[in-house]
Amino acid sequence: MSSKAPQAHEVTELGGTPEQEAYMRDIIDQFTVDTNYLNQIRDHFMAEMDKGLEKEGATLAMIPSFVEGRLTGKEEGHFLALDLGGTNLRVVLVTLEGQGKYKTVSSKSRVSEELKTGPMRNLCDYIAECVDTFLTEQGLEDQEVELNLGYTFSFPVLQSRINRGVLTTWTKGFACTGAVGKDPVLLLQDALLRKHVPVKVSALVNDTVGTLLSNAYNKPSTLAGLILGTGANGAYIEKFDKITKWKGSKASADEMIINMEFGAFDNERKILPLTRFDNKLDRESINPHAQLYEKMVSGMYLGEITRNVLTDMIDRELLLKRDENTSLAWSKEISRHWSFETAFMSNIEADNSTDYAHTKEILDTNLNLHDVTTTEARFIKKICELVGKRAARLAATSIAAIVKHCGIDADGCDIGIDGSLYEFYPSFEARMYEALTEMMPELTNIRKTIRLGLARDGSGVGAALTACVAARMEKIIA
Ligand code: BGC
Repeated sequence: MSSKAPQAHEVTELGGTPEQEAYMRDIIDQFTVDTNYLNQIRDHFMAEMDKGLEKEGATLAMIPSFVEGRLTGKEEGHFLALDLGGTNLRVVLVTLEGQGKYKTVSSKSRVSEELKTGPMRNLCDYIAECVDTFLTEQGLEDQEVELNLGYTFSFPVLQSRINRGVLTTWTKGFACTGAVGKDPVLLLQDALLRKHVPVKVSALVNDTVGTLLSNAYNKPSTLAGLILGTGANGAYIEKFDKITKWKGSKASADEMIINMEFGAFDNERKILPLTRFDNKLDRESINPHAQLYEKMVSGMYLGEITRNVLTDMIDRELLLKRDENTSLAWSKEISRHWSFETAFMSNIEADNSTDYAHTKEILDTNLNLHDVTTTEARFIKKICELVGKRAARLAATSIAAIVKHCGIDADGCDIGIDGSLYEFYPSFEARMYEALTEMMPELTNIRKTIRLGLARDGSGVGAALTACVAARMEKIIA
């Protein structure tokens, strides 16, 4: 599998020494994924989607979400939503007003590292406490009727009903004990009961499914929902008869949303262009050999991949060569695991000044790297660009696979995307479109046919909509 050879000017315009140029030529080559390679990854993606639809235990889990049918936009009512899965925990009160409109009030709190890795019971107690406080703030603590809550639990859960499932593994730095193999709904419901919080967990939702639904609430041609944030994953609407592994009863609709769990794509390392920097990150992560695609495309990891390249250059004395006598501790911070955040990359890529003043400031303030020269800053920016661009292009292969798998008509489709990477990383969307154009040259106007768009608050509104679908399905079944 070969990638594209770097263009000569890409290297020379960096203005480095011959050794630096040679190094960069190799790095550019390793991080460049050309059209041919993108197509091969997309085709592998499609083959893996088929496998996941056919049998349990495939690399792409392709989990039926139990969310059946499509939304009409007319759904109404008050619902609670809980969002756990990224950096924060959010409790949201959603009022669906019909006609694709809604209002939300929410509260946010940080989930500490201790809670993320301690006993699951502690995490659930903390969540129940946050819900309790929120209800009191909103004057809803003395409800006669229990409020319905849609629980966005953004980890791989094998669902058995719309509000039942089993956590198969943790991702994104979570590792609570006593949770894998258990039902997150029962664990939370138990904590709510212990605290006498009048709330019924009526739907269990992956954030991608929520994103799809919230996008579909006002864009009925929505085919898929993606998260490109701390983690990465996608969900799409599948024809029921293509889910050949389905053993449950006949659904009430002929389509069902599938949570792909595509972060695990190519865990067997058949196709992804893994570099030694990716391997280092994987090995040092708390879940080695898992979520390999996620580790190349999501916000939790891009900064660390970049740091791995930078420290490699430093060790070879090709970057930030400093006189040890004048500043002994200069490399302490950059040597620290996870110290180079993806947000720094985002800000560095946005720095279009000729003297890289902002880049220098970011490195100075956050990493104690003083007196970075313009040439050094140019190198660092280039490395951020390589890692960021590769992420966007690889992320686009999932969309190309979904679109090709489902087939779209002349009206095209909408894809709702949520997550900080998509929302804030400069050019992330433009780079995805570029890759999609390369993979689908037959589509003359890619932006009109595959309409990527920010789906705000998929985890809140989407969870509320799922709780609403759950209520509708209960009526159909009853
Ligand atoms: C989880 C998915 C989730 C994604 C985005 C991944 O690590 O496995 O369930 O949808 O992150 O939050």
